[in-house]
Amino acid sequence: MKFTVTEEKIGVVQADCEIVIVIDGNLEHKWIKEKTDLETLDFKGKLDDVAFLPHQHRVYAGVDSLDRDEIRLAVANALKAIKKAKYKTVKIASYVKDCPVTNTKAIVEGAKLGTYSFEKYKSEKNPLTIEELIISLEEYADKKLNLEPAQKSVTEAEIIAEVTNHAKEIVNTPPEDMTPARLSEYALEMAKELEDVTCFVGDENFLEEQNMGAFLAVSRASAHAPRFIHLIYKPDNAQEKFVFVGKGLTYDSGGLSLKPSDYMVSMKADKSGAAAAISILEGAARLKVPFEVHAIIGACENMIGGNAYKPDDVLVAKNGKTIEVRNTDAEGRLVLADCLCYATEQKPDYLVDLATLTGACVVAVGEYTTGVMGHSSPLKHSIMAAATKSGELTGSLPFNRYLKKLLKSNIADISNISSSRYGGAITAALFLDNFVEEEYKEKWIHLDIAGPAYVEKDWGYNQCGATGAGVRMCLYWMKDIAYKSSNHHKKEQ
Ligand code: BES
Ligand code: ZN
Ligand code: ZN
Repeated sequence: MKFTVTEEKIGVVQADCEIVIVIDGNLEHKWIKEKTDLETLDFKGKLDDVAFLPHQHRVYAGVDSLDRDEIRLAVANALKAIKKAKYKTVKIASYVKDCPVTNTKAIVEGAKLGTYSFEKYKSEKNPLTIEELIISLEEYADKKLNLEPAQKSVTEAEIIAEVTNHAKEIVNTPPEDMTPARLSEYALEMAKELEDVTCFVGDENFLEEQNMGAFLAVSRASAHAPRFIHLIYKPDNAQEKFVFVGKGLTYDSGGLSLKPSDYMVSMKADKSGAAAAISILEGAARLKVPFEVHAIIGACENMIGGNAYKPDDVLVAKNGKTIEVRNTDAEGRLVLADCLCYATEQKPDYLVDLATLTGACVVAVGEYTTGVMGHSSPLKHSIMAAATKSGELTGSLPFNRYLKKLLKSNIADISNISSSRYGGAITAALFLDNFVEEEYKEKWIHLDIAGPAYVEKDWGYNQCGATGAGVRMCLYWMKDIAYKSSNHHKKEQ
């Protein structure tokens, strides 16, 4: 779908269909032409309400306010409602009065995110027919404003939504087709397409050279060999360094501490952290953020077999710490332990790991919300503020020293599970804390995306399945930091 911004008044723009956003039930707006029809249809014009009038070629979608996430949702709802009508061109007015750039961005994101579908494995495809969405900025003409910021915001929003959809595609792909090797090929191919991006891929030999004993143990029983993936985006004059670490379990059967069947289904999504980190890097490179950005991925499968790692084994991580394995299903933290050690060697200014790490996080904050953990409150606040703008939900989970003690092991430096059943999301993060060197503790954020990364029902403008959780919040966050450190004073990013 192509996006065009124009100063032409919405009434004169030529298109097959029009989307009209109704704000807080106000049916008196000049753009609402079918008030009586809408009342007959009992359309209230509140958030999530949608009414398609096929004869008038108009679709109405309600919002409670012009909050950007409500605009995303209204546009997604409207496009969903008209999909079967097979229009080629659609127009929408951008409600410039509020904030033109923000609204334009939200319209584009809502359209692109909301119309994604995963059809690779369907014999009968149902593609979107809409080729162009025309956004009228008629108040721009009245106020004689420059169209350029709006055009730029369209391109930015397209990139952000597109890379989010790429993450969804990786996650939705079945485990036998998205193996660690295939994921590394994806990263290599992506790097080739992008300016200032390089990609290194390491196999078991590399993991051995790096003393990544924990990562190796998790990978061992799989027929698919592990891959260590390191992507770097390094523009000229890069300011700070962001390192994103992603959990890339292309399948998590639980290992010898095998998952019950019902819990194993959907574990192809255990590579969501990796998909997010790769897509964040793609987004950063395409948006040309003024930072050096790294994506470090531990990709492997957690399987069973004669050579599987076992509960009772003691592993040695890259930093020399010994880990008593008490549950092989707590494997993500083992892979991440080694990846985090490697990540701190890159001397990051910001270190973020993304992982579908614990079911406990889903219990704590619900399936739509990412758990945010770390030692620095300002850092947590800054990423959470960016997440809200991006349309992602977050909740902060607090560390404390009592929870930390629960990871004690009788025979090794640390156990891979807590001795208590409570606070599992936090104890998992506190396990990871052992692999973040002192100097980087205040720079580190852990994002547990176990809930929102993969939800088996439609919600908001997300489809059943993968959502690309973490991608938009991290890209908005980097843009925020770039904006704050730049001396330009633009009103909106
Ligand atoms: N990949 C799972 C976590 C998960 C659960 C992700 C549900 C998405 C949805 C992780 O590897 C795991 O199995 N964690 C265990 C940890 C436990 C053994 C301490 C869990 O959460 O049960
Ligand atoms: Zn597991
Ligand atoms: Zn897992």
